[in-house]
Amino acid sequence: MRTQVGIIGAGPAGLLLAHLLQLRGIESVVLETRSREDIEATIRAGVLEQGTVDLLNESDVGERMRREGMRHEGVILRFGGENHRIRLSELTGGRAITVYAQHEVIRDLVKARLDRGGPILFEVKDVSVLDLDTKLPKIRFHDRDGAVQELACDYIAGCDGFHGVSRPTIPSRLRKEFTRVYPFGWFGILVEAPSATEELIYAYHERGFSLVSTRSPKIQRLYLQCDPNDVPDSWPDARIWEELHTRLAGSDGFRLAEGRIFQKGVIAMRSFVVEPMRHGRLFLAGDAAHIVPPTGAKGLNLAAADVRILAQALGEFYASGRKELLESYSETALRRVWRAEHFSWWMTSMLHHFHDESPFHHRLQLSQLRNVTESRAAATMLAENYVGLPFDKD
Ligand code: APR
Ligand code: PHB
Repeated sequence: MRTQVGIIGAGPAGLLLAHLLQLRGIESVVLETRSREDIEATIRAGVLEQGTVDLLNESDVGERMRREGMRHEGVILRFGGENHRIRLSELTGGRAITVYAQHEVIRDLVKARLDRGGPILFEVKDVSVLDLDTKLPKIRFHDRDGAVQELACDYIAGCDGFHGVSRPTIPSRLRKEFTRVYPFGWFGILVEAPSATEELIYAYHERGFSLVSTRSPKIQRLYLQCDPNDVPDSWPDARIWEELHTRLAGSDGFRLAEGRIFQKGVIAMRSFVVEPMRHGRLFLAGDAAHIVPPTGAKGLNLAAADVRILAQALGEFYASGRKELLESYSETALRRVWRAEHFSWWMTSMLHHFHDESPFHHRLQLSQLRNVTESRAAATMLAENYVGLPFDKD
């Protein structure tokens, strides 16, 4: 088999890259270890930055998102038992976030790809990358029938997530990895209940962080800071509600509506970056190259920003033979990556309870929270980062 760009992984990064390349008339093949049903059902985050929304709309895959997604022009920081609203749109010249679940984005991208006749090979196994230093790198794999296949490509995009095979093919002496693991996780649930708030609530409490998000008027997405070693059984429903009510209690009478919990899961909290994001003809994008803790809601948005830059660079190469944008891909992408890494780490540090925390640290966190809600300059900094920096800053 032969293609122009071999794409490993059908997550948001791989699928959006394939779509953006297809719009430019560039051929690609997407290889995915899981089944279509599995990737379309995996529950992940759900906040799209303004730039991600614009990119999906401009590339003609935004129709359902425009109908079903919920645009939010503000976000709430809750502490001291009160809500403090950050006016996202007012502070950023009209930009906003859209709440639309990642697996819905995946469904839209898979459909767009298959409708246009673009190949996605699901349920492949034993994927490996060969001949990276040559002009014709290859991806070897077993197809779903077990036959060994080889896909020869001009370029390979490693979009296979944090645990994929692409990143380790870069020799360790040529890559530098930056990691921070946080001493807590998030316990996430989906609940059948009416929404208790019109905007997302990021709540600071001495018992730990909690987050009130949403999926639809009838389904809510809630998280609470937990021990990283917790499993779903550590959290019977009664414990979840008691803890959420305690952490969200306040003088304003706010109370979550309870309902049937139909999904539970623990999310690890990690910051990670690999540099560079390119080796020879292999380009890394999305979680394969970087991880952020979910507090800033940046994971999916960074994946989209990476592949936008990569599609543009590949587009220029196939249109004119010029390689400058391919050469600068890693440096360009890493500027936004590190901004998002800092923002996500900062939000995480400001909002979580650290076990070794001293009363001094607790006072500093409260002071920081007051500052970002009371100072227009500080609130603008949060708002600009949260809605996402415009692409012309890349
Ligand atoms: N071969 C082929 N596919 C693979 C391989 C492999 N060896 N290893 C992993 N994959 C697939 C996974 O099954 C997954 O579907 O690659 C895909 C990677 O998708 P994501 O992990 O979603 O990563 P990415 O596309 O970079 O999107 C980043 O998704 O994980 C969330 O929170 C993250 O929002 C962020 C976004
Ligand atoms: C979500 O809705 O899943 C969500 C929202 C905001 C975050 C993380 C996750 O920061």
